[in-house]
Amino acid sequence: MNVTIVNFKGGVGKSMIAHQLITGFGFEGCEIDPYGSLSDRLPENVSRIDVREKHLNPPRQETIFDFGGFDDIKLDQAVAYSDLIVIPFIPTLETIQGTMDTLVRVAAMNKPILMVPNMSQKENDINDAKFVFEETLGFEVEMFPIPMSVALQTAINENKSIIELSKQGGIKAYAYKKGANLMHRLYEKIREYENH
Ligand SMILES: Nc1ncnc2c1ncn2[C@@H]1O[C@H](COP(=O)(O)OP(=O)(O)O)[C@@H](O)[C@H]1O
Ligand SMILES: [Mg+2]
Repeated sequence: MNVTIVNFKGGVGKSMIAHQLITGFGFEGCEIDPYGSLSDRLPENVSRIDVREKHLNPPRQETIFDFGGFDDIKLDQAVAYSDLIVIPFIPTLETIQGTMDTLVRVAAMNKPILMVPNMSQKENDINDAKFVFEETLGFEVEMFPIPMSVALQTAINENKSIIELSKQGGIKAYAYKKGANLMHRLYEKIREYENH
């Protein structure tokens, strides 16, 4: 299966999620984000598509498209190849509009959408965002919240899968267990959308 992770807004966790799905579960990556650095971090597994490129080749292996920063025809192509669209966002009033633009843009393409409220401080903010999205779209959206996690940030900084880190011995591994479990659950959730 292929998955498009998209939000025109930066800093919402697209590349963190892409990085963990690629390093933890064997996906390939395709970076379509002029501001991104995922392909520099994982040069073996992630290809980089130039902004001026007009065509996206069909993926040969299961691929995560990390799409951000701008909007063009390649978003339609990535979504057409994908079984699921994942939209990470920060559930605060200031950033919800940018996410809404992304959501409205991709909702027209009739692919399932999984919203990922990331680094949220309050449960209420997630519920408020869900309400705003569903009011605007007119249908229900599934949410998979990811909390702020020092363990996840450490995995990213070390350019490793949090699952790999959680398999080390000792007290340190314990700190990564929670984040590793979360990534397993996200992976299972994504697989639910395979062939749909
Ligand atoms: N749940 C999280 N907990 C801790 N740090 C996170 C979390 N999600 C993302 N980050 C960090 O926040 C920063 C921005 O995330 P990133 O994935 O680069 O966003 P995007 O690709 O949408 O621009 C990165 O340093 C990333 O590692
Ligand atoms: Mg990014």
